[in-house]
Amino acid sequence: MSEWQKTNWRNKPRVQMPDYTDQEALNAVESQLSNYPPLVFAGEARSLKEKLAAASRGDAFLLQGGDCAESFAQFTADGIRDTFKVMLQMAMVLTYGAKVPVVKVGRMAGQFAKPRSAPTEVVNGVELPSYRGDIINELDFTPQARIPDPKKMLQAYTQAAATLNLLRAFSTGGYADVHKVHSWTLGFTETEKASKYRVMSERIADALDFIKAAGLDSKIAHELRTVDFYTSHEGLLLEYEEALTRLDSTSGKWLAGSGHMIWIGDRTRQPDGAHVEFCRGVLNPIGLKCGPTTTADDLKVLMNKLNPENEAGRLTLIARFGAGSVGDHLPRLIKAVQEEGANVVWSCDPMHGNTIKSSTGYKTRPFDSVLREVREFFAVHAAEGTVPGGVHFEMTGQDVTECTGGVVAVTDEDLSDRYHTACDPRLNASQSLELAFLVAEELVKRRGTTANEAAA
Ligand code: PEP
Ligand code: CO
Repeated sequence: MSEWQKTNWRNKPRVQMPDYTDQEALNAVESQLSNYPPLVFAGEARSLKEKLAAASRGDAFLLQGGDCAESFAQFTADGIRDTFKVMLQMAMVLTYGAKVPVVKVGRMAGQFAKPRSAPTEVVNGVELPSYRGDIINELDFTPQARIPDPKKMLQAYTQAAATLNLLRAFSTGGYADVHKVHSWTLGFTETEKASKYRVMSERIADALDFIKAAGLDSKIAHELRTVDFYTSHEGLLLEYEEALTRLDSTSGKWLAGSGHMIWIGDRTRQPDGAHVEFCRGVLNPIGLKCGPTTTADDLKVLMNKLNPENEAGRLTLIARFGAGSVGDHLPRLIKAVQEEGANVVWSCDPMHGNTIKSSTGYKTRPFDSVLREVREFFAVHAAEGTVPGGVHFEMTGQDVTECTGGVVAVTDEDLSDRYHTACDPRLNASQSLELAFLVAEELVKRRGTTANEAAA
């Protein structure tokens, strides 16, 4: 393949990107961003890749989660802290289930641009361009708000930088202490409704007590009090991605400096399209959404383009088929991966195939459908003898009412109470943690099966 350049995507067909009308303003923003520091460094992207390589073998488990769309209006320290906090709780529960390290990757510090199912939206007979995320235009339903404004990229960059700064502080500054994280979880399982998860959380407490009693606490103080936390987003707005792309002097390769991991969405994975062209040339770990319309042939072409050297940890396939459909699609794609002998992490996004309209008119996702898709994902991997390497959730640490169900049940009627998402419905803190317990149960089952196979 010809020498990759960060501008080559411009010669390829692009979809889901805005048509900026003010070319001069766009150029000015791009040149400004090109001079700004990158948000992440190549060594971090490489260490994430190594961890994902372990996940591809079953020696680690990926937890990726956060907002569907980060928002300028809802940007607060508490919001960042609460999502970080619930992800740490989930990671601890999943570590217990998987008995391997959990790789924590936020949909944070850059998850601003959204692909849409239609270019325009009609409300009360008025048609306007669709909202495409705060980095592009505004959610308000007015013609002015929907005009794409390149300057929003600068605000997104600033917000991403501040978010990442706080995440780095939380990760190493004492907030991520394992004892603290577990005490929050105990708080959840002590409630009447979540009592069925108490046994698992008490076992985690026992393990921590044992570490302390054995005097290991001080010896592994650093490990118990800090975490590695990575950022990710859909690499959709390629002007922004290109402007933050930097040459890594150590390896001579290009780094997408906007986040540790970027992914290609279900609507932008055309093998000859602009998004695949951009992503193939950067050294970061890359995610690829796989949906019902992903063909085995396309997947093979995409794996070869995105990971020509078959590097473990480079490519994460994020399956999002919908509850009831995993069995129709995952086996044929697993077969394609096996035929190529490709190294991939298989992750399950049980959100994007399970979006429905509630009886009260809100876009929602039933907790039971989300859980069912996760279980189908694990069942198919168990049947195929392949590795379920991770999960990908749209979630928040805030107590929102956007998805229905869960032990602290949200009903169709409750959705209007605290429906705050700028785009898709997210699991709230309690639903996220509950889902982590249920995924942990699947992981425990899986270890039971693999242990039996090893003994046989
Ligand atoms: C998303 O992850 O927010 C998204 C739009 O997903 P998909 O591309 O899988 O539809
Ligand atoms: Co979404």
